[in-house]
Amino acid sequence: MDIIKKVKTKFLNHYSKSPAFIVNAPGRVNLIGEHTDYNDGFVLPCAIDFSTVICVSPRTDLVVNVFAIDCNEEVDSFDLNDSIAFNDTQFWSNYVRGVIDELKKRGFTLAGCDIAIGGNVPQGAGLSSSASLEVGIAATFNQLCDLGLSTVELAQISQAAENNFVGCACGIMDQLASACGKNDQALGIDCRSLELIHTPISDDNTIVIINSNVKRGLVDSEYNTRRQQCESGAEFFGKTKLRDVTIADFEAQKSAMDPLVAKRAEHILYENQRTLDAMEAFKVNDMPAISRLMAGSHASMRDLFEITTPEIDYLVQIIADVIGDRGGVRMTGGGFGGCIVAFVANDLVDTVVDIVAEKYEKQTGIKESIFITTAADGVSVITDIEAI
Ligand code: GLA
Repeated sequence: MDIIKKVKTKFLNHYSKSPAFIVNAPGRVNLIGEHTDYNDGFVLPCAIDFSTVICVSPRTDLVVNVFAIDCNEEVDSFDLNDSIAFNDTQFWSNYVRGVIDELKKRGFTLAGCDIAIGGNVPQGAGLSSSASLEVGIAATFNQLCDLGLSTVELAQISQAAENNFVGCACGIMDQLASACGKNDQALGIDCRSLELIHTPISDDNTIVIINSNVKRGLVDSEYNTRRQQCESGAEFFGKTKLRDVTIADFEAQKSAMDPLVAKRAEHILYENQRTLDAMEAFKVNDMPAISRLMAGSHASMRDLFEITTPEIDYLVQIIADVIGDRGGVRMTGGGFGGCIVAFVANDLVDTVVDIVAEKYEKQTGIKESIFITTAADGVSVITDIEAI
């Protein structure tokens, strides 16, 4: 609530009026199922208690004014009559422009507005601050112009904006988690059918996210290389997606594959199975199974998909040592830095925080940041402004 109040006050000071409504779009953490989304596979993220907040007031013309509180309070302004151009100098604005461009391409009639954007999803940490911004903007125009879009459609439009306008070939996981998350549940997603498999999380446990604060480098180029390698893997089996390759077929033929492509494919095929198994394990709170599956996922990202860093591996190792089979821990997100996620029994949270405080900076020279969260609801619109 504090962050919503903060953005509302900034809006008021900047535009000298109250917003008509406020959109709250959460970031996400992925519990398991990494790089499986663009292979049409399975993922298990949840929305988190950290979000992008957008205050909105309608205008009578077709101008969109954007005030970006967390980007040095920069402003951007454009007219919906004009074709939406890429903004070379204010990169953040392209998430806003991209979503509007996608809505226009789909033939929706849009209206102008004054908006202020702020939030507390750490940027560049792999917790989907950009996806939450996209979903928040899609929800803004859905509300403003009464577009009647479902939350899944908000996610699809947001992903299209990222793919087509921003130029990152991401999958659908982040936007769907931000749009469709449910309080106290993880969100199993079949990334082919977009079926959502709501997976309750026991409140005997806590989600601890630790940002390694390793500067993420080469993320986009490495991400796109992994995508191509996965496509080559599927092609080897005469399929368009690795989702359609069975583990049995892979094991029978892997020795004939390019060794690097085989490693990438092995990660995806077994990660899909681990994710399906994890959905069952979370439902019955089978901690030893969750622990084993998350450990398997991390080892696979480290040794087969090769997207972890030494600092991340170290964090995972020291946490795994203290939680045993009473919790799971792994890197979360696209990789090459960013965060780890630990899902642990409530009474172990302090132990995890203490071991990281004691060892991580000493070993790596980098200070971590810690976020404690529960699984949160997806994007929402607040119209009772006075109550904030
Ligand atoms: C990024 C992408 C997602 C997904 C993850 C890896 O977060 O945006 O679509 O591919 O990486 O699981």
